[in-house]
Amino acid sequence: MIKVRGAKYVVYGVSDPAKTSRFMEDFGLAPVAWQGESAYLRGALPAPYVYVAEKSDAPSLKAFGLEVESAEDLARATQIDGASTIHDLDRPGGGQVVEVFLPGGIKLELVHGIADAAPLPIEAPLVINEGLRKARFNAAQRPARVPAQVLRLGHVVLGVPDPVAAKDWAVRNLGMIVSDAMLVPGSKDDFVGFFMRCDRGRTPCDHHTLLITQAASPSVHHIAFEVQDIDTVFMGHEWMKGAEHRPHWGVGRHVLGSQVFGYWWDPDGFRVEHYADGDVYDSSVPATTVEGTHDQLWAWGPEVPHTFFQQTRET
Ligand SMILES: [Fe+2]
Repeated sequence: MIKVRGAKYVVYGVSDPAKTSRFMEDFGLAPVAWQGESAYLRGALPAPYVYVAEKSDAPSLKAFGLEVESAEDLARATQIDGASTIHDLDRPGGGQVVEVFLPGGIKLELVHGIADAAPLPIEAPLVINEGLRKARFNAAQRPARVPAQVLRLGHVVLGVPDPVAAKDWAVRNLGMIVSDAMLVPGSKDDFVGFFMRCDRGRTPCDHHTLLITQAASPSVHHIAFEVQDIDTVFMGHEWMKGAEHRPHWGVGRHVLGSQVFGYWWDPDGFRVEHYADGDVYDSSVPATTVEGTHDQLWAWGPEVPHTFFQQTRET
């Protein structure tokens, strides 16, 4: 079985790549070289790109790129039902890819060998004076009002008609682990979602790299990018409000995964999330099963908007 080690990038088809690129810069991504009509953007960590915007008359998530542990794993990935052969990636940093499909139709690009770029200068986290533990002396707290510097792509939330089949496929073919399984409220065996993390043994991994949810047709619910700390999420929210982008939900704190979050609508009506302070688990933490009720969604923050439960884009 192969093992995926984390989220690498997303490729979107968008109506206007230049407009999306400007939005993503306000969101906190850094632009890198265009290729043809496609905009590439990166986070501050060394991945050469985390977001690709291709011109499309039918906006959609084209692919979710996941990195595998080794070249051997990439070779093994060609054995997955319906997988492509190995081919070279014609994108910054090169590398190789095997294309597979999550049951339900979402394309995953399993990649290996993408060369790192030099990391960007990373904004230091704030030093927090807690109630009983003071870490900052003779110094003021003056965070700058700037976009929330994105570090990396953290997770992708996909909708499929049969989440159980897609979860089983991800366990079997990607070596992923269920962190939390979500039931229809009141049900004992009708699952509506699975928070899935990578299995890297004792190495801590994000509580979820992939969240599979039930949806009438294959779709993306949102993509989420990690930022340095909670203040960065709030400051990013202020920046986005000032730039008059469309807010969706937040700032708040999730329950499953614990992240402090802020969601925005991009120019084509796809959700993008900033988050900080998410849970990380090694492979020893067993899965839990919870009912997918509202109180499992957020601990504090504004009431969840009804549009959060819509599958379609907000245009
Ligand atoms: Fe999320």
